[in-house]
Amino acid sequence: MARTASALTVAGLFAGIGGLELGFQKAGCQTRLLCELDAAANAVIARHFPECRHVRDVRQLHPNDLAGVDVLCAGFPCQDLSSVGKKSGISGDKSSLILRVLSLLRESPTPFVVIENVKFMLNLDGGAAMDAIVSSLESIGYHWCYRVLDSNAFGLPQRRHRVFLVASLSADPRPILLNGNAEPRADDYDMSRPIGFYWTEGKFATGLGADCIPPLKAGSTIGIPSPPAILFPDGNIGTPHIEDAERLQGFPRRWTEPALEVAKASARWRLLGNAVSVNVSTWVAERLVAQPEGRFSSARQSRLIEGKWPAAAWGRKGERVAVELTTWPTRRKSCLAEFIKNPPKPLSKKATSGFLARAKGGNLRFPDGFLKAIEQYLMTC
Ligand SMILES: C[S@@+](CC[C@H](N)C(=O)[O-])C[C@H]1O[C@@H](n2cnc3c(N)ncnc32)[C@H](O)[C@@H]1O
Repeated sequence: MARTASALTVAGLFAGIGGLELGFQKAGCQTRLLCELDAAANAVIARHFPECRHVRDVRQLHPNDLAGVDVLCAGFPCQDLSSVGKKSGISGDKSSLILRVLSLLRESPTPFVVIENVKFMLNLDGGAAMDAIVSSLESIGYHWCYRVLDSNAFGLPQRRHRVFLVASLSADPRPILLNGNAEPRADDYDMSRPIGFYWTEGKFATGLGADCIPPLKAGSTIGIPSPPAILFPDGNIGTPHIEDAERLQGFPRRWTEPALEVAKASARWRLLGNAVSVNVSTWVAERLVAQPEGRFSSARQSRLIEGKWPAAAWGRKGERVAVELTTWPTRRKSCLAEFIKNPPKPLSKKATSGFLARAKGGNLRFPDGFLKAIEQYLMTC
């Protein structure tokens, strides 16, 4: 039976700037507890979630803190699981904190759990992190499902693939995540539409974005968080304004401004790079609140093979099933040129020539006309 949103309370652990929790709030849920270590992130959530209890460190939490909470959200630290991070896996200093959360759940299980992390966690060490998480959830009695979702499908011109997992103690979580199977938009790099790229890269790359930016990141190869650049059809190249970057993650403009009370301006880029896209969390939250009944998907299913974690799956104690679904459950309109509202900051001559030199010296392939357009921009900037 569908529940009313007002009945659902949320605890957000590793809350960052509240990307998951803002989505649940938009779906009508009430944030009761937020837990976040970082001072700049705390300045942001203190401003936007003044009503709830704030705790700094998940290591300070007690199982009683979860009493009365309906949904536990945890977009846990990804440094050890990311393809550009330390790759120490689920036992790494940071990512192992999720195991602490799972032991809290063992003592005080919340009806729902929502976990988010980078897609690479499905590959690293044969998906050991996902195995540890679902094994623990299964042993507590949860029925779980997960799916890789691309923010680009949800009306945001940002290519960003993240794993979303929903677990439930009594409801079937599968209709929440495992429905809708739209065809992702093709990566057509025609020069009549903007192309997003990281000017800090060149030899190795996160990849370009056709009419979208590549994923906003918390760090970069030059050590500081930096925005991606956009090559526009008129030949200009610029980096988006911070307020557009906030919108590219689904936040209202100026959401991260309170971070300036305690940190430098670059912290806002780091916080956004770490965040969950609000459009995606809202989609998950709305479906969790409605708890759609009935069949979850007509997609092909097969027994999940150990060590091979697909883009979508479900399971419960004694049963794990792989589901063939795209990362686009929906297909909302997004067009980068229309989305950008503030004039982008022109990419400097130094940044452009550095990128071009790396790109020409490396093995990466670029779409026809892309490097030529960068050369032309360099001659005019
Ligand atoms: C991937 S980010 C989560 C981002 C968040 N979901 C959002 O939308 O902004 C992980 C967060 O965990 C926080 N964190 C790391 N260790 C922590 C700890 N011991 N207790 C609480 N938060 C912690 C980090 O500061 C970081 O903000």
